Amino acid sequence: MMNNIKTYIDQHKDRFINELIEILKIPSISADSAFSQDVINTSEAVKIALEKAGCDLVEICETPGYPIVYGEKIVDPKLPTVLVYGHYDVQPPDPMNLWNSPPFEPVIKKTEIHPEGAIFARGASDDKGQMFMHIKALEYMISNKNLPCNVKFMIEGEEEVGSESLSWFVKQHQEKLANDVILISDTGMISNTQPSITTGLRGLSYVEVEVTGPNRDLHSGLYGGAVANPINVLTKMIASLHDEDNHISIPGFYDKVENLSAAERAEMAKAPFSLDAYKKSIDIDSVYGEKGYTTNERNSIRPTLDVNGIWGGYTGEGAKTVIASKAYAKISMRLVPHQDWQDITKLFKSHFESIAPKGVSVKVTPHHGGQGYVTPIDNIAYKAAAKAYQNTFGKSPIPQRSGGSIPIVALFEQELKSKTILMGFGLDSDAIHSPNEHFGIFNYLKGIETIPLFYKYFTEMKS
Ligand code: BES
Ligand code: MN
Ligand code: MN
Repeated sequence: MMNNIKTYIDQHKDRFINELIEILKIPSISADSAFSQDVINTSEAVKIALEKAGCDLVEICETPGYPIVYGEKIVDPKLPTVLVYGHYDVQPPDPMNLWNSPPFEPVIKKTEIHPEGAIFARGASDDKGQMFMHIKALEYMISNKNLPCNVKFMIEGEEEVGSESLSWFVKQHQEKLANDVILISDTGMISNTQPSITTGLRGLSYVEVEVTGPNRDLHSGLYGGAVANPINVLTKMIASLHDEDNHISIPGFYDKVENLSAAERAEMAKAPFSLDAYKKSIDIDSVYGEKGYTTNERNSIRPTLDVNGIWGGYTGEGAKTVIASKAYAKISMRLVPHQDWQDITKLFKSHFESIAPKGVSVKVTPHHGGQGYVTPIDNIAYKAAAKAYQNTFGKSPIPQRSGGSIPIVALFEQELKSKTILMGFGLDSDAIHSPNEHFGIFNYLKGIETIPLFYKYFTEMKS
């Protein structure tokens, strides 16, 4: 019954690629209101794609923000239901000058990692390409009459800006969204020869800080040295947030951090990883981070604090001698299990305000955030996914925690009482959120091939 997915992909792959390219052409940048019509147009394109795939019902659900596209195909209410989540919005493409081809004019190019080609465009991997694999897998299962269970799709347009409308939507539609498992492809795997299943996501607290000194910008000769310079002060305050060992120095920050046992850490260390290849891939001569932890631990099971942007004063051409009145920074903290993002945000705020020296005032404004998530590996969903990868890659997938965040996943568990399985087919080298984002054709088609097997094994194991 399922044997012909490979044939189906062979027959339809050019169309699968072209349809994805059409969606990638729409600049659905949720962060920039100049693109709001494009974001809305993308929701329409997703709706049409779900209808064409054979959903019985597809609706655009309006929200206070961008619409959520909901689709379903109910085969038999007695059968299990898989809820697929994804997002059709993308990150802003800037800096534009670093793109080798325009971000919304997709092109296929071969790379060392992708000898069979990769699609270069903003959103190719995060998440239009990965979301679209699910629509194509659904098309296959419906047209070949082998969809083994019920399916619901919920594709949002605000993931990259915090999923506020989706939280609102999920809280009001528990019944409509009822499911046995949530399936998401919005993460990565180790490599194209070593699949992995993401078993953890970090939480996030994102804040903006503002340091104000004098009431206006001052001449740096007339006033320099005699008044607090907000930029000097801000950078000093930020530097003090880590100690010599790169531990975060906010009191209480680590209080709830889950410490993994030596056995769990040893298990993690078994995943294939080349430090040299890692350094080479991003052109650095040495890694950096919290003392006592490996690179893979630093970017998954340990919390972090990073400045994402910092500005103030004169940054134009040439030199202007000035002491700015204000300095700003955007700071993200990635959190691990048991750290509560709202508690951490409060800790940050009170600590940051307390370390402000005399002569300036400090304002901390929380942005969005969310809890981390850990998927159990002893449940049916994980086993079904592992069996699906085993079948299509010929290799058993390795469970691996990721450093990224999809804050809505913890909310799904809270509101819908179901677990999420993260079947990501991207690679770290896909350059998501960066210039020249791409998604391998191999990955795209392998995802389409693997997803129907998940449905099959999940349904079998469930009954
Ligand atoms: N798909 C990513 C998250 C991701 C990527 C997780 C790769 C694991 C591996 C998602 O679109 C994203 O970018 N999330 C944001 C958080 C969000 C609140 C803006 C992130 O992790 O920075
Ligand atoms: Mn994403
Ligand atoms: Mn993203």
